[in-house]
Amino acid sequence: MSERTLPPGVIGLHALPSDHHDGPWDSMIVPPGTKERLLGAALLVLRQGRRLTGLSGAPHGLIMLAGPPGTGKTTLAQGLAQAAALKVAERGATTLVEVDPHAFPSDMLGESQRAVSKLFLDTLPELAARRPHTVVLIDEVEALAVRRSSASFETNPVDVHRATDAVLSGLDQLRARCPNLVLVATTNFVDAVDEAVLSRADLVMSTTLPGDEVIEQIVASSLAELAGQWPALGPLAGDADLRAELAKGLRGLDGRRVRKTILAALTLRTEVALDPNLLTAEDLRRATQPED
Ligand SMILES: Nc1ncnc2c1ncn2[C@@H]1O[C@H](COP(=O)(O)OP(=O)(O)OP(=O)(O)O)[C@@H](O)[C@H]1O
Ligand SMILES: [Mg+2]
Repeated sequence: MSERTLPPGVIGLHALPSDHHDGPWDSMIVPPGTKERLLGAALLVLRQGRRLTGLSGAPHGLIMLAGPPGTGKTTLAQGLAQAAALKVAERGATTLVEVDPHAFPSDMLGESQRAVSKLFLDTLPELAARRPHTVVLIDEVEALAVRRSSASFETNPVDVHRATDAVLSGLDQLRARCPNLVLVATTNFVDAVDEAVLSRADLVMSTTLPGDEVIEQIVASSLAELAGQWPALGPLAGDADLRAELAKGLRGLDGRRVRKTILAALTLRTEVALDPNLLTAEDLRRATQPED
């Protein structure tokens, strides 16, 4: 279910679990233990948040995913919301709130600060009151929580500093007011995120470029998905030697590029684009060989 009128700064609002959100979590191929740690950090706050608020050093409910472009941060964050919502479903539904970090203008002095404060002090608590659990996704959080120590006053308006201050005080107040709320933030530039914001994260998880084995598994997953749509591709998808060969040509690429390159094999011949059932191993080899 997506709810129609969105508050300022919010670009998506969903009730989870929902079949519609199945997929991302399972499609991500990550080192062993990664998903368990992410789920653990989210579930502790969603389920035990209220009791934990009394502890010194109580969690902020902030999970940070940091890594290069195309390494699956957004996909993992979205998948985590659904995976966690499934685990707590017997205690009630979860609201997924997607925040647009670029929606907070900075041309008028004090405006971003006010908008950020409103997000943390009004909008999120109001949304969190709707259901027992809430997951807030802030993609590209460096836009909102600019590192103050490196943001120069010449190139960055004072407003940027104030907005980061507002994020910090917002995080602290949110922890007290909404103990069952988890924030999942992603960033390409962990060095651009304010240190005090990072310090409040309960878990900072790094995503990295895939190694040979992971690339091979992403190729397998991409081909299996294609075979799901075009059944004649079943044998290609099942060919382990071919997958290993293709993976070698894809070394160094991020997960997004790997998936796109496999898809690009469908575009090399017009008849294949018109009928993907005609895709051959040779098309896949051509697409994955680095050009000289
Ligand atoms: N380790 C992986 N396993 C499977 N698929 C992956 C992996 N890494 C990336 N992908 C795929 O790449 C695509 C892009 O991922 P996503 O948008 O989550 O990356 P991102 O890290 O958020 O990138 P950006 O920093 O550019 O926003 C998705 O389709 C995702 O499934
Ligand atoms: Mg992303």
